[in-house]
Amino acid sequence: MAYKIAIIIGSLRKDSLNRKVARSICGLRGDNLDCSMIEIGDLPLYNQDLDGNPPEQWRRFREQVAAADGVLFCSPEYNRGVPGVLKNAIDVGSRPYGQSVFDKKPAAIVTASPGSIGGFGANHQIRQTCVFLNMPVMQQPEAYLGHVTDDSFDESGCLKEGPLKQLVTSLAHAFHDWVDMIHRSRQLLAEDAAHTAQQQARAREHA
Ligand SMILES: Cc1cc2nc3c(=O)[nH]c(=O)nc-3n(C[C@H](O)[C@H](O)[C@H](O)COP(=O)(O)O)c2cc1C
Repeated sequence: MAYKIAIIIGSLRKDSLNRKVARSICGLRGDNLDCSMIEIGDLPLYNQDLDGNPPEQWRRFREQVAAADGVLFCSPEYNRGVPGVLKNAIDVGSRPYGQSVFDKKPAAIVTASPGSIGGFGANHQIRQTCVFLNMPVMQQPEAYLGHVTDDSFDESGCLKEGPLKQLVTSLAHAFHDWVDMIHRSRQLLAEDAAHTAQQQARAREHA
Protein backbone atom coordinates (compact mmCIF):
# COMPACT_ATOMS: atom_id res chain seq x y z
CA MET A 1 0.00 0.00 0.00
CA ALA A 2 1.31 3.47 -0.85
CA TYR A 3 1.23 6.00 1.98
CA LYS A 4 -0.15 9.42 1.14
CA ILE A 5 2.48 12.06 1.79
CA ALA A 6 1.75 15.78 1.92
CA ILE A 7 4.86 17.64 0.84
CA ILE A 8 5.09 21.22 2.04
CA ILE A 9 7.74 23.32 0.32
CA GLY A 10 9.01 26.37 2.17
CA SER A 11 9.86 28.24 -1.04
CA LEU A 12 7.54 29.87 -3.55
CA ARG A 13 10.33 30.21 -6.12
CA LYS A 14 9.54 28.62 -9.49
CA ASP A 15 13.00 27.06 -9.76
CA SER A 16 13.28 26.25 -6.05
CA LEU A 17 16.07 23.84 -5.20
CA ASN A 18 13.95 22.48 -2.38
CA ARG A 19 11.07 21.80 -4.76
CA LYS A 20 13.47 19.86 -6.99
CA VAL A 21 14.74 17.84 -4.03
CA ALA A 22 11.11 17.06 -3.13
CA ARG A 23 10.39 16.04 -6.72
CA SER A 24 13.38 13.71 -6.62
CA ILE A 25 12.13 12.09 -3.41
CA CYS A 26 8.71 11.51 -5.04
CA GLY A 27 10.43 9.90 -8.01
CA LEU A 28 12.61 7.69 -5.84
CA ARG A 29 9.77 6.24 -3.78
CA GLY A 30 6.93 6.50 -6.30
CA ASP A 31 5.99 2.87 -5.66
CA ASN A 32 5.01 3.25 -2.02
CA LEU A 33 4.95 6.95 -1.29
CA ASP A 34 2.04 8.68 -2.96
CA CYS A 35 3.31 12.27 -2.82
CA SER A 36 1.37 15.49 -3.35
CA MET A 37 2.88 18.93 -3.15
CA ILE A 38 0.54 21.16 -1.18
CA GLU A 39 0.22 24.77 -2.31
CA ILE A 40 0.96 27.32 0.44
CA GLY A 41 1.64 30.50 -1.53
CA ASP A 42 -2.03 31.49 -1.62
CA LEU A 43 -2.75 31.11 2.10
CA PRO A 44 -3.88 34.38 3.70
CA LEU A 45 -1.79 35.26 6.74
CA TYR A 46 -3.03 33.46 9.81
CA ASN A 47 -5.38 35.58 11.88
CA GLN A 48 -7.20 34.06 14.83
CA ASP A 49 -10.16 36.38 14.20
CA LEU A 50 -10.92 34.33 11.06
CA ASP A 51 -11.14 30.96 12.84
CA GLY A 52 -14.96 31.13 12.93
CA ASN A 53 -15.23 31.64 9.19
CA PRO A 54 -11.93 30.55 7.65
CA PRO A 55 -10.84 31.59 4.14
CA GLU A 56 -11.39 28.99 1.43
CA GLN A 57 -7.62 28.56 0.98
CA TRP A 58 -7.21 27.65 4.65
CA ARG A 59 -9.97 25.02 4.35
CA ARG A 60 -8.39 23.54 1.23
CA PHE A 61 -4.94 23.38 2.84
CA ARG A 62 -6.27 21.82 6.05
CA GLU A 63 -8.25 19.18 4.11
CA GLN A 64 -5.24 18.25 2.00
CA VAL A 65 -2.95 17.82 5.00
CA ALA A 66 -5.63 16.01 7.02
CA ALA A 67 -5.96 13.41 4.25
CA ALA A 68 -2.25 12.53 4.37
CA ASP A 69 -0.55 9.69 6.26
CA GLY A 70 2.62 11.72 6.70
CA VAL A 71 4.14 15.13 6.07
CA LEU A 72 7.46 15.95 4.43
CA PHE A 73 8.82 19.46 4.87
CA CYS A 74 11.36 20.59 2.25
CA SER A 75 12.49 24.10 2.95
CA PRO A 76 15.16 26.67 2.46
CA GLU A 77 16.59 28.59 5.38
CA TYR A 78 15.93 32.32 5.44
CA ASN A 79 18.16 34.34 7.72
CA ARG A 80 18.99 31.26 9.78
CA GLY A 81 15.31 30.57 10.33
CA VAL A 82 12.09 29.21 8.82
CA PRO A 83 10.75 31.14 5.80
CA GLY A 84 7.66 33.10 6.84
CA VAL A 85 5.50 31.47 4.18
CA LEU A 86 6.12 28.03 5.68
CA LYS A 87 5.57 29.17 9.26
CA ASN A 88 2.30 30.72 8.15
CA ALA A 89 1.18 27.44 6.57
CA ILE A 90 2.08 25.52 9.72
CA ASP A 91 0.16 28.02 11.87
CA VAL A 92 -2.88 27.77 9.57
CA GLY A 93 -2.85 23.95 9.78
CA SER A 94 -2.42 23.96 13.54
CA ARG A 95 -5.65 25.81 14.33
CA PRO A 96 -8.41 26.13 15.54
CA TYR A 97 -7.04 25.00 18.89
CA GLY A 98 -7.53 21.28 19.35
CA GLN A 99 -8.16 20.66 15.65
CA SER A 100 -4.63 20.68 14.28
CA VAL A 101 -4.35 18.69 11.05
CA PHE A 102 -0.74 17.92 11.93
CA ASP A 103 -1.53 16.07 15.15
CA LYS A 104 0.17 12.62 15.32
CA LYS A 105 1.26 12.70 11.66
CA PRO A 106 4.73 11.26 11.10
CA ALA A 107 7.06 13.80 9.52
CA ALA A 108 10.50 14.32 8.05
CA ILE A 109 12.40 17.53 7.46
CA VAL A 110 14.74 18.31 4.58
CA THR A 111 16.51 21.63 4.18
CA ALA A 112 18.58 22.37 1.08
CA SER A 113 20.82 25.35 0.44
CA PRO A 114 23.69 26.43 -1.76
CA GLY A 115 25.39 27.30 1.54
CA SER A 116 27.63 24.91 3.41
CA ILE A 117 25.51 24.20 6.49
CA GLY A 118 22.44 23.13 4.54
CA GLY A 119 19.78 25.10 6.39
CA PHE A 120 20.60 23.55 9.77
CA GLY A 121 18.98 26.46 11.64
CA ALA A 122 15.69 26.29 9.75
CA ASN A 123 15.66 22.51 9.98
CA HIS A 124 15.76 22.61 13.77
CA GLN A 125 13.22 25.39 14.03
CA ILE A 126 10.80 23.27 12.02
CA ARG A 127 11.65 20.27 14.21
CA GLN A 128 10.95 22.29 17.35
CA THR A 129 7.53 23.28 16.00
CA CYS A 130 6.79 19.65 15.09
CA VAL A 131 7.51 18.63 18.69
CA PHE A 132 4.86 21.06 19.91
CA LEU A 133 2.46 19.87 17.21
CA ASN A 134 2.81 16.26 18.43
CA MET A 135 4.32 15.01 15.17
CA PRO A 136 6.73 12.10 15.44
CA VAL A 137 9.69 13.39 13.40
CA MET A 138 12.14 11.01 11.76
CA GLN A 139 15.54 11.25 13.45
CA GLN A 140 17.91 9.79 10.87
CA PRO A 141 19.24 10.40 8.36
CA GLU A 142 19.35 14.10 9.14
CA ALA A 143 19.00 16.10 5.93
CA TYR A 144 20.91 19.37 6.00
CA LEU A 145 21.70 19.39 2.30
CA GLY A 146 24.54 21.83 1.67
CA HIS A 147 26.18 22.99 -1.56
CA VAL A 148 22.99 22.28 -3.53
CA THR A 149 22.82 24.29 -6.74
CA ASP A 150 20.99 24.11 -10.07
CA ASP A 151 23.88 21.99 -11.24
CA SER A 152 22.90 19.27 -8.74
CA PHE A 153 19.90 18.42 -10.97
CA ASP A 154 19.47 17.01 -14.46
CA GLU A 155 17.29 18.46 -17.26
CA SER A 156 14.18 16.80 -15.81
CA GLY A 157 14.82 18.55 -12.48
CA CYS A 158 15.82 15.40 -10.60
CA LEU A 159 19.05 14.85 -8.66
CA LYS A 160 22.06 13.73 -10.62
CA GLU A 161 23.91 10.58 -9.56
CA GLY A 162 26.30 11.23 -6.69
CA PRO A 163 26.57 11.45 -2.90
CA LEU A 164 23.66 13.91 -2.62
CA LYS A 165 21.34 11.56 -4.47
CA GLN A 166 22.58 8.67 -2.30
CA LEU A 167 21.72 10.59 0.86
CA VAL A 168 18.32 11.61 -0.47
CA THR A 169 17.62 8.02 -1.57
CA SER A 170 18.41 6.68 1.90
CA LEU A 171 16.22 9.41 3.37
CA ALA A 172 13.30 8.47 1.08
CA HIS A 173 13.59 4.81 2.10
CA ALA A 174 13.91 5.69 5.78
CA PHE A 175 10.88 7.97 5.59
CA HIS A 176 8.74 5.24 4.07
CA ASP A 177 9.83 2.86 6.85
CA TRP A 178 9.21 5.55 9.49
CA VAL A 179 5.65 6.22 8.29
CA ASP A 180 5.02 2.49 8.00
CA MET A 181 6.30 1.81 11.51
CA ILE A 182 4.17 4.54 13.07
CA HIS A 183 0.99 3.45 11.30
CA ARG A 184 1.50 -0.27 11.95
CA SER A 185 2.30 0.34 15.63
CA ARG A 186 -0.85 2.38 16.05
CA GLN A 187 -2.90 -0.31 14.35
CA LEU A 188 -1.45 -3.00 16.63
CA LEU A 189 -2.10 -0.88 19.71
CA ALA A 190 -5.69 -0.28 18.58
CA GLU A 191 -6.21 -4.02 17.96
CA ASP A 192 -4.70 -4.80 21.33
CA ALA A 193 -6.97 -2.30 23.09
CA ALA A 194 -10.04 -3.68 21.27
CA HIS A 195 -9.07 -7.24 22.26
CA THR A 196 -8.59 -6.24 25.91
CA ALA A 197 -11.94 -4.44 25.93
CA GLN A 198 -13.62 -7.53 24.47
CA GLN A 199 -12.06 -9.78 27.13
CA GLN A 200 -13.13 -7.42 29.91
CA ALA A 201 -16.69 -7.34 28.55
CA ARG A 202 -16.80 -11.16 28.47
CA ALA A 203 -15.40 -11.37 32.00
CA ARG A 204 -18.12 -8.97 33.19
CA GLU A 205 -20.82 -11.10 31.50
CA HIS A 206 -19.58 -14.22 33.29
CA ALA A 207 -19.04 -12.53 36.64
C1 LIG B 1 15.60 36.20 2.31
C2 LIG B 1 16.66 35.14 2.13
C3 LIG B 1 17.41 34.73 3.21
C4 LIG B 1 18.34 33.71 3.06
N1 LIG B 1 19.00 33.23 4.17
C5 LIG B 1 19.76 32.12 4.08
C6 LIG B 1 20.26 31.47 5.26
O1 LIG B 1 20.07 31.91 6.38
N2 LIG B 1 20.97 30.33 5.09
C7 LIG B 1 21.20 29.79 3.86
O2 LIG B 1 21.83 28.74 3.78
N3 LIG B 1 20.75 30.38 2.73
C8 LIG B 1 20.02 31.51 2.81
N4 LIG B 1 19.49 32.09 1.69
C9 LIG B 1 19.83 31.53 0.37
C10 LIG B 1 18.89 30.38 0.04
O3 LIG B 1 19.40 29.20 0.62
C11 LIG B 1 18.84 30.22 -1.48
O4 LIG B 1 18.29 31.38 -2.07
C12 LIG B 1 18.03 28.99 -1.87
O5 LIG B 1 18.17 28.77 -3.25
C13 LIG B 1 16.57 29.18 -1.51
O6 LIG B 1 15.89 27.96 -1.61
P1 LIG B 1 15.01 27.59 -2.89
O7 LIG B 1 15.98 27.41 -4.04
O8 LIG B 1 14.32 26.32 -2.53
O9 LIG B 1 14.08 28.73 -3.15
C14 LIG B 1 18.58 33.12 1.80
C15 LIG B 1 17.83 33.59 0.70
C16 LIG B 1 16.89 34.57 0.86
C17 LIG B 1 16.05 34.99 -0.33
